[in-house]
Amino acid sequence: MATTTETPAASPYDRIGGLAALRRITDRFYDLMETDPAFAALRAMHAPDLTPMRESLPLFLAGWSGGPRTWWDANPGKCMVSMHAPFGINRELAGQWADAMRRAIADISPGDTAIADALADVLDRMARGMAKA
Ligand code: HEM
Repeated sequence: MATTTETPAASPYDRIGGLAALRRITDRFYDLMETDPAFAALRAMHAPDLTPMRESLPLFLAGWSGGPRTWWDANPGKCMVSMHAPFGINRELAGQWADAMRRAIADISPGDTAIADALADVLDRMARGMAKA
């Protein structure tokens, strides 16, 4: 009987370019948040020093997309949506988050455009889903 060797499908994490690409995207995201007045309200609700966020967001996205689970192991049981509930996120803030992330992904333009578009779309939905008003 003929045997087939199946290569496991690459994870979204691998297709996007791993942690190095996620760090470039999230650094661009926070650079935009810090410099573009379109994201001023979003910037204002974050702590003055974004260094901890520049560390935690790429690690969150790494585990979430099928890569190393560093953030998840350090935050057992932490739910990203519930964690954001006290922040009073409205549609405008969620839109700023989604727009900044979409622009960051486009600016970094990871080689695999299908996965880059999918990442922008799913994060857009996640962010807008956090809006309470
Ligand atoms: C909907 C719009 C969003 C707003 C307005 C928002 C706002 C915030 C704020 C204010 C913090 C606290 C950080 C600080 O005080 O400096 C935070 C933390 C965080 N947010 Fe968001 N966020 C949004 C969406 C998202 C989404 C969609 C994700 C993930 C894909 C995310 C990932 C994180 C992470 C990883 C942290 C740090 C949590 C930790 O490591 O303890 N946020 N966010």
